[in-house]
This record gives sequence, C-alpha cells and structure tokens, in this order.
Amino acid sequence: MRFFKEAGIDTLSVNIFSWAALQPSEDEYNFTKLDKIMALLKENHMNVILATSTAAHPAWMAKKYPEITRVNFLGIKRKFGGRHNSCPNSPVYRKYSARLAGKIAERYKDYDNIVAWHVSNEFNTGCYCENCERAFREWVKKKYKTLDEVNRVWNTAFWGHTFYDFDEIVVQNNQTECNSPTESEFPGITLDYRRFMDDSMLECYKLEYEAVKKFTPDVPVTTNFMAFFEPLNYQKWARSMDFVSWDSYPTPDEDPANTSMWHDLMRSMKQGDPFLLMEQTPNVQNWQPYNAIKRPGVMRLWSYRAVAHGSDGVCFFQMRRTRGASEKTHGAVIEHAGTDKTRTFREIAELGGELKALGGELLGLRTDARAAIIFDWENWWDFELCSGPSRDPEYKSYPKEVMRWYRAFYERNVNVDIVSPEDDLSSYKLVVAPLLFMLRDGFAEKAEEFVRTGGVFVCSAYTGLVDEHDLAFLGGYPGPLKDLFGVWVEETDVLPPGDTNSFVYKGLTYEASQIYDIMGSHEEDTEVLSEYGSDFYAGKPVLTKHPFGEGAAYYFATRSTPEFYREFIGDLVHECGIRELMPAIGGVEVTCRENETDEYLFILNHNAGEVVLTEGAYGTDLLTGKTVSGSENVTLPGKDVMILKRKK
Ligand code: GAL
Repeated sequence: MRFFKEAGIDTLSVNIFSWAALQPSEDEYNFTKLDKIMALLKENHMNVILATSTAAHPAWMAKKYPEITRVNFLGIKRKFGGRHNSCPNSPVYRKYSARLAGKIAERYKDYDNIVAWHVSNEFNTGCYCENCERAFREWVKKKYKTLDEVNRVWNTAFWGHTFYDFDEIVVQNNQTECNSPTESEFPGITLDYRRFMDDSMLECYKLEYEAVKKFTPDVPVTTNFMAFFEPLNYQKWARSMDFVSWDSYPTPDEDPANTSMWHDLMRSMKQGDPFLLMEQTPNVQNWQPYNAIKRPGVMRLWSYRAVAHGSDGVCFFQMRRTRGASEKTHGAVIEHAGTDKTRTFREIAELGGELKALGGELLGLRTDARAAIIFDWENWWDFELCSGPSRDPEYKSYPKEVMRWYRAFYERNVNVDIVSPEDDLSSYKLVVAPLLFMLRDGFAEKAEEFVRTGGVFVCSAYTGLVDEHDLAFLGGYPGPLKDLFGVWVEETDVLPPGDTNSFVYKGLTYEASQIYDIMGSHEEDTEVLSEYGSDFYAGKPVLTKHPFGEGAAYYFATRSTPEFYREFIGDLVHECGIRELMPAIGGVEVTCRENETDEYLFILNHNAGEVVLTEGAYGTDLLTGKTVSGSENVTLPGKDVMILKRKK
C-alpha cells in the first residue's frame, strides 16, 4: 500500500483469479482473505475495481463435474488446467459463476470505494462439446424456425449436406467442416457456429452482470477486451457493458498506428464514451518472441496515448510480480526484488505524480470525429472462412486492409472513429468501409441514406460478395451497393506478391497490388478517376466516383501503397471539410479531445529524437505549464508528450 501511494496509484483491480480460494468446495465459501484485502484497500483510500474471479474454475469442480471443461477444436476433451477452460454452455459453470459473482457483490456492496466491476477476465472462446452441440441446435432452431430455411441459408444442397432433422446438425470443428479454425467447407454453417459461440460467452457475461447489478445497481460493469480479438464480437458485447476496458500489449517493435487504431475502436464502441486502459505492462512482457523492455519514457508515452484516444485511466498488470507459474517473468510495478528503487518504479511514480497534478481535467473529454471506418466482426469471420480469393495470410487479413485506410487518417492527424455497420452514421461526413465482403441486411440502404444526405462513402476491392448468410449476391457485385457505387464488378484477379499492376492518380503513378476487381460496366454518371495501367484489363476503371443525392460514393478496386491512401484520403478529407489537427511530422501522432469550451491537443513523439513543431501547435501545455503560439519553433524531445489546452 505504501508503494502504491508513493507511485500515485489510486485504483486497484483485485480478485481476478480467486475462485479456488473463494469456493474451496461445492458447499463452502471462504471470504477471509478477500475481506482482509477489501478492508486494507478501504483503510488506504484505494478505489477498487472488483473482479468476479470466474475466468478459471476450481480443480474440485472439474473433477466433480467433468462437463465443465471444454472440448477443443480437434475434438479432444480437456482436463483441468489453464484458464478459459470452462464450457460456456455448461449449466454447472453458468450456475456457479453467476452465484459467485452474486455472493461477492452481496458481501461487499456497502464498500463505497468499489468504482467498477470486472467480470471474469479477457473472455475467450472455443468449445465443441456435446453441451455446445445441443445448444447450437437450439440456437439454430430459434434463428431459422424450420429445417427448410436452415437448408436454404446454409446452401446444404452443395455436396448433398441436406439436414433431415435438427439433431443432425453438428459442432463446427476439425471433426466436421473445418480443416483449420479459419477454413470451412461450409462457411455459412461455421459462421453461425461462431455467432452462436460468441452469444454463448456473452450470455455467461450477462449472467454475472445481472448477478452483481442486483446488489450494486449503480456500480458500472466491464470486462477487459483484447484489441482485435477475433472470436468475440466486441461491438456487440459493448452494448451490454457500462464502459469498455481493454488490455494493451503491443509487440516491442510495434507500429504505433496499430495500438492507436485499437484505442479508437475501444472509444467508438460506446459512441465516444471514455474507456479504460485496464492492463499494460509497466516494463516487460513474457509471451512475445523477444520481450524487449519498454525503453525509458515509452511506458509514459503509451499511457498518454491511451488518454489521447479516449481513456479515462491508466492501469498496469501486474502490480506485484507473482513468484511461480508462467507469469513470474512478466513485468510488475513491484518486482521480485520488492523495492521501490527500480527504474520502472520511478517512471511509474513520475507518471502518477503528473496524472495527479492534472486532476480531473482530462476526464470525460470527447473526441470530435467526422470521419469513420467501418469494422465488422462478422465480416471478418466470414471473409476469413471464405476459401477465396487467396490463401496468403497477408492478402486474407481484414485487419490489415482496415489498417491501410486507418494509417492515412493517422498520418494526416485526423480524428477517426472505428464503427460497426450497425452504428448510426449520420454524424460523419466521410465513411470508409474497407473490404465489406459480407453485407448485413439493411446496410446498403443505410449507406445510400448516408450518401444521399451529403456523406462521402468509400469501399475497397472484394466488397459486397455475400449476404449475412454467406450466400452470394446474384446480379453482380457489390450486390445491393451497385446503385450507390454506380459500378458492377465482373471478375477479381489475385496475383502473387510482386506481380503488380499500376494506376495514375493526379499525375502520379501508384502500385496496384494483391487483389484487382475488374468492372463489367458502370453507370453513365460514374466518373472514372483512374484506370489500370497494364494486363488484359488495362484501361478498365480502378478508382471511380459516383454522385448520389447530395454526396458521392468512391470504389477503389485494388490495394496500394501508403502514399496513395494518404493522398486520396487527404483529398477526401478536404472535400468534406474535415480538420487535419496539425501538419504531419513523421513519427509524431496527434489527436484532439474536447469538452464544451476547450480542446486538448495531444502531441506524441514516437521518435527517439526531438522534433520541431510549428503551425498548429498552440495553447498551454498542461504538462509543463508553458504556452506556445504555433508560430515559433518549439521542440518536443524524443518519446515525449505535449497536451495543449486551448479555447475552442
Ligand atoms: C493479460 C491477462 C493477464 C495477464 C497478462 C500478461 O492478457 O489479462 O491476466 O496474463 O495478459 O500479459
């Protein structure tokens, strides 16, 4: 407690993996240790994020109720061990996890220092047991009502997979349609299994949510996410959470735009409400190929980056380094040496002091983003499961395609949200929907309405091939988006790395690579902004603009280099009157958050060396108290941050 105070740490997430201690047998609960900890935290004026402890079940439970452990992708029944090993459809797991959450809430409900609930930990998925199989059949029955409909949406006439009875429907793993977790002979069925598994986990979360809310209706509830974690549709989960929190563990050599994209996703999932950085290592991880230490200043820089993108807090894993098992080599605020005389501790204490001095100034700020990128988990699942257009993981990566577009906004210092196709688009002027291979029902109408009322909408190659059942659109791609884009895609070429095409945009030649949509024809009023430069489709459109109502829709038929996206997005941003917060400087990231009267410009220097700032960098730096005018040269040292406050 003394060290935490010294470090300026005022909030602790506790009780995360304590199920075995809290419930040593079926009929016995023991809160002695947690009582002491809760009392200690209270005495020391610490805020508590209280966890429900349900991410790893006790050994006795696995012995007594073997149904509780999962069956893996290969169909192998797991024994006790690891974490995330509980079957989400096990009635035993559901009963005891919700009961434990309720008991904890009932016991500690009067602690006014509980600031949030932390349900389970990093929900994870993938069970293929008989309980899951039965539950899947029920899920399918509820969704499709009749077997005729099931056979239709899954196109089971292919290879004679027609189902005659619901009990012929099986789990989707290596024993059935899937050669690997990302390959399926029947993506429509596997896609539904993923939806079902995601729903199953979410139900477990909701049971605990209800259990704690019963006793503490006013304490907000979260569970910690993990960036782009494919198996769980976080955008859907966020709707059942009071606030979003996530754990950020970038690789030591990460491209800074990556983590920033994830932060933007976290902020956007609850329509711009602040989120919480629940975990980051203060210095070192233990599970990367090379666990380089965060260089001096980097922990501080990355902490402010979270705040710059919308976090209202900065937390660490782990507080004190565990003695045994796998995480004994993972960094901590208090290391095995047990002292505050470490570089890491000093850096944390400095950051703690700065955050304390900032007080509540930055809390609750909002991000005014006029541009958005659509990211759709279900589209990710379905595109990945699709056996075309390539097996190359680079070509097949939906997050990488999203990053091609995100980077352009990031490098131009434009605030951008990352939203779901189910979100309201009306507050944006520019929306980019990269690689929307699968279109949800109603999305085309929404996109049309967005453009009709003045929006600029962009999509990229391989868009609009299938509906939400993975059934191909008939009548040409991009299916129901054809009218909006005023184009029709007839064929898609996919060439190996290095086998590229080219196109000219505003007088400069850019590389076209990987995937090449070839248009069949286009509407008369579709403007062809650029054409392929070579191959049998030389002269065919590669970039088109279609006026639609008050706005316009752009189709980009291939993939290119960062220079092109930066240039093109720059033009669209200008067309839409969207603000670039500061002229771009390599390695310097800029975001802006605001309240009703002021705005706060965060300038983060990811470079090792100093940079010189001029135009756009004006206001009072909250970290140094200095005022800068934007006309003189100001230097920002390597790995340093400025937070410039100014009137709106
Ligand atoms: C997180 C997890 C923690 C710890 C940490 C190590 O994903 O929530 O419990 O395992 O990773 O980096």
